[in-house]
Amino acid sequence: MARIVGGITTSHIPAIGNAMTQGLEGTDYWKRFFDGYEPVKQWLDDVDPDIVIVVYNDHGLNFFLDKIPTIALGCADHYENADEGWGLQTLASFDGDVQFSWHLAESLINQDFDLTTCQEMLVDHGFIVPMALMWRHLPEWPVQGIPLAINTIQHPIATARRCYALGKALRKAIESYPEDKKVVIFGTGGMSHQLQGERAGIIDVDFDLECMEKVISDPEWLASLSTTEIMARAGTEGVEVIMWLVMRGALNAQVNVIHKHYHVPVSNTGAGVLVLENA
Ligand code: DHB
Ligand code: FE
Repeated sequence: MARIVGGITTSHIPAIGNAMTQGLEGTDYWKRFFDGYEPVKQWLDDVDPDIVIVVYNDHGLNFFLDKIPTIALGCADHYENADEGWGLQTLASFDGDVQFSWHLAESLINQDFDLTTCQEMLVDHGFIVPMALMWRHLPEWPVQGIPLAINTIQHPIATARRCYALGKALRKAIESYPEDKKVVIFGTGGMSHQLQGERAGIIDVDFDLECMEKVISDPEWLASLSTTEIMARAGTEGVEVIMWLVMRGALNAQVNVIHKHYHVPVSNTGAGVLVLENA
């Protein structure tokens, strides 16, 4: 049977990818941020997952404003990265697990999540920056990746509560897969940031820290906030933090915190990372 060995939430800021390409990890600006990922890499080495389900939002590489599904699941054997701007280097493609994806699709749709299935899907920085943070030091990706993209670009978007419920359904979907697979779930995005408009550049450290604490001990708190309430506190792009709730919904009510780190700012964003296991 497939089982969830834990979950990771992390920011996915493009500047992180550029810092890695340029070898800036040890510089004054970046050192504390990257040091915060060493325990995450260590944990991943220890649990040695087969599959990572990456819950993220596409930023216009695969979907654009004219057609954008609320929830889209990759159902392919292969996912290419492509030039999306930001100066990001294009990374090697990722292997998927098409059989597992279709199982997830069937289970989630039977649990009333009417998602879009994608047999072709380009993955952008929301997917690749976290993957690169964890495994770019290795000659090839040591895991298979399954993209689960949630729209946060074109409103209206799925509510925080719906994302939390999706996580619970995702758990049932994973745990009903008959093959032995160790699965880690990533929820990527956030924390507070706004890239456009009058409030461009806002960061709310108090919200970010409260959010990290509540995701651990009281995810209902975040799930009960409306999209407008989250954007008022965390900025328009800060709403990406709803991805964290998908990951959290897939874990037990009680979790053990393996690692927690917050660094501000990275580019325009409060950058948080959590590693959680079921208690
Ligand atoms: C930044 C953050 C993001 O989440 C993103 O998708 C793009 C840019 C930033 O802070 O620069
Ligand atoms: Fe983003």
